[in-house]
Amino acid sequence: MGDKVVIHRYEVIIIGGGLTGLRAALQVFDAGFDVAIISKVNPLRSHSVAAQGGMNASLGNVKGPEGSIDSWKNHAYDTVKGSDYLADQDAVERMCREAPKTVIELEHMGTVWSRLENGKIAQRPFGGAGFPRTCYAADRTGHNTLNTLYEQVNARKIPIYDEFFVTSLIRDQGRCTGCTALEFLKGEIHGFVAKAVLMATGGFGRIFNKSTNALINTGDGQSLTLRAGVPLKDMEFVQFHPTTLYGTNILITEGARGEGGILLNKDGERFMERYAPDSLDLAPRDVVARSIEEEFVQKRGFKGDYVQLDIRLLGEERIMERLPGIRQISMDFAGVDPITEPIPVQPGQHYSMGGIDVDINGRTSLEGLYAAGECACVSVHGANRLGGNSLLETVVFGRLVADKIIEDVKEFATPPKKLVEKVIKTSEDHIEAIIQSKGLENQFNIKDMLNQTMTTKFGIFRKEDSMLKGLSDIKKMQEKISKVSLKNKDRKLNHALIRLLELQGMLLLSEVVAIGAIKRKESRGSHKRTDYPERDDENFLKHTLVKREEEDMIVSYSPVNLGMFEPEERVY
Ligand code: FUM
Repeated sequence: MGDKVVIHRYEVIIIGGGLTGLRAALQVFDAGFDVAIISKVNPLRSHSVAAQGGMNASLGNVKGPEGSIDSWKNHAYDTVKGSDYLADQDAVERMCREAPKTVIELEHMGTVWSRLENGKIAQRPFGGAGFPRTCYAADRTGHNTLNTLYEQVNARKIPIYDEFFVTSLIRDQGRCTGCTALEFLKGEIHGFVAKAVLMATGGFGRIFNKSTNALINTGDGQSLTLRAGVPLKDMEFVQFHPTTLYGTNILITEGARGEGGILLNKDGERFMERYAPDSLDLAPRDVVARSIEEEFVQKRGFKGDYVQLDIRLLGEERIMERLPGIRQISMDFAGVDPITEPIPVQPGQHYSMGGIDVDINGRTSLEGLYAAGECACVSVHGANRLGGNSLLETVVFGRLVADKIIEDVKEFATPPKKLVEKVIKTSEDHIEAIIQSKGLENQFNIKDMLNQTMTTKFGIFRKEDSMLKGLSDIKKMQEKISKVSLKNKDRKLNHALIRLLELQGMLLLSEVVAIGAIKRKESRGSHKRTDYPERDDENFLKHTLVKREEEDMIVSYSPVNLGMFEPEERVY
């Protein structure tokens, strides 16, 4: 450790600079509290920026079937049905009730929503939704909303520590009182002392090799929290988006189908007629992704395993107005202009329904530690998330959890500083040990193996024997990672070091996904077991909780909050 120990002191620390973190920071700041954001990247590079299709809210600007008008209750019903009845209905109600106000609030802050002819905010149909409910900014909704919130944060001069990687949480007598973080540029560990810490670090999609997620989505918040003794919930539920660009797996928005695009197999068949005769291409994601995968199994996919997304019928004008981003992506990364040719697509990992176990207010079991957004599991998505509900969750719960923090920190005493130096020293020792390690393993080979294992053993179709083999391989990789040595031994701007710290966490999270998936002997939402093809409410209408004690993963279950909607068979 250098001579100088840097310790920062705030009332609230937010880890993560995406939509959730930024929205929460605004709320805490405006209530008069001293808040800072720590982020692995500049906030504008957070993965929220990549969100395309939109944000759900029952504004009712576009009429539904037979002229009907949407309501928060319709939104809640679609969300609960989409979740295969695993979502907590009190949390769903809260999100859906808050949605219209949230969209308007963003507009007032500066988001440029696409418009209808009459000037109202436009809404498009999305998968699993009974009404055109998804508000959008062409197909760059995340980009638009993230820039809006970032501008607001900058206008308030809220401090942002970007290019800092959080290495541990500080716990003092059963309370979270801050964190330590590695500054990339200087390679130094800083201490951050706070009364409350909000985890808002996004998903962990990069444990898979075909993913729409940015390379930064390595689940750092979830693994930090797991190490701090807080359970993770429902981690076996991983969403595969049906349409990712063949070759790179960049997202091709569901908005393309919402606007009228259709899926075709190699025989030119609109194959969704077979699997979801009513909703067709706009069935929920788990259904469409599975249907495409089944087409591959039946050898009706194109060579290399892809199908075609045809949006030519929309015409050039509409494509340029509503889907300019995916047109550009298709041209740049697949050499295909969707105005004249179909887009080659295949399913790819997209979202993590599971995450840090929190109550409806975002509180974890560790006092002073909160979580919101994709890294948390509140749970509004259950076993399968509807498109357009993720952006909504980030902003709604970013605000609501911040409100709870504001209430709680008034009661919290100022945390003592005494522990911080000790935790900084432990983080320093951990990093020094990695740098000095002379092992023979290569971290990038381990990462490739992990990606391959997760994709082949814990993908769209799952089966006991193959998952058991996957879990045993993950454990072997966990052994290997302790024998990695870094070529670059410098502390400054050592990106290989950061990748290795991420990978250590990813291996832990993969183990949690694997354990949850093996123990859940049923099919529900995104979790499709070919050996247990049916949903089993009698035994599995419950949340999986996995907690780490010493080196062991302890599994338990908790009940689902039902209420408004009784579980039914899910047909589309
Ligand atoms: O398809 C999409 O535009 C993705 C939206 C979402 O994940 O909510």
